[in-house]
Amino acid sequence: MPMEVIITDTPEEIGQLGADVVAQVLASKPDAVIGLATGSSPVGIYDDLARRIREGELSLKECTAFLLDEYVGLPEGHPESYRSVIERDFVSKVDIPNDKVHSLNGRAADIPAECAAYEQAMQDAGGVDLQILGIGTDGHIAFNEPGSSLTSRTRIKTLLPQTRRDNARFFGDDLDAVPQQCLTQGVGTVLEARHLLLIANGAGKAHAIRDALEGPVTAMCTGSVVQLHPHVTVIVDEDAASLLRLTDYYREAWAAKPSWQGF
Ligand code: GLP
Repeated sequence: MPMEVIITDTPEEIGQLGADVVAQVLASKPDAVIGLATGSSPVGIYDDLARRIREGELSLKECTAFLLDEYVGLPEGHPESYRSVIERDFVSKVDIPNDKVHSLNGRAADIPAECAAYEQAMQDAGGVDLQILGIGTDGHIAFNEPGSSLTSRTRIKTLLPQTRRDNARFFGDDLDAVPQQCLTQGVGTVLEARHLLLIANGAGKAHAIRDALEGPVTAMCTGSVVQLHPHVTVIVDEDAASLLRLTDYYREAWAAKPSWQGF
């Protein structure tokens, strides 16, 4: 399976197609391990999964999930901690048991031990079958900011000012309220997932998508490691795809794809 790039006409279609990818994984493995991303990009997928569950098409009851990252230092239950975000955007809408959703504790007294235990829990669960990924405007995946080692594991990172500015919208536009540090799965950790699903929409992501898909593989854009992975599905809307060089080719390949092939 190579890297497949699907360009949708509308941002809404990203949610539907993304949910199709999840459904495909569940069809062959009902107890799949799903890697969850927070942020605005995956919300359409989560909403479409919720609809399918309501309509009895699929179930996440047997699944396990792991979050990619978490802010350091937010009080427990803070509405913008990624644990709270995923409970609001995902767990509350679907039928996965809350205790099967693993997240990093950004208040842990022993951060290295917390990160090592998280890596161990992922291994104990058998590894991630499908990792949903958004991308930051600087090309980061999870919170692996530019300069992150491409073999990095789960660890503490300092956020770039740009990332904090991007995320200030979730903190009432108060930049000072955005934590400076985070815990994040490493690039090497993310690469171990069996299938990566990268999604992006909007012109604000066009540079990041161009650099990640068609630029050099570089720590300056950690999303570029998708080029090293054997099974990647990228779903982007026209705006996010607007700076890609091979758009015609991606469209042709998608239109000509045999239906048996799947994602
Ligand atoms: C944050 C998260 C990433 C996410 C990115 C994009 O920095 N740590 O996992 O992919 O933001 O967020 P959004 O989807 O809201 O644009």
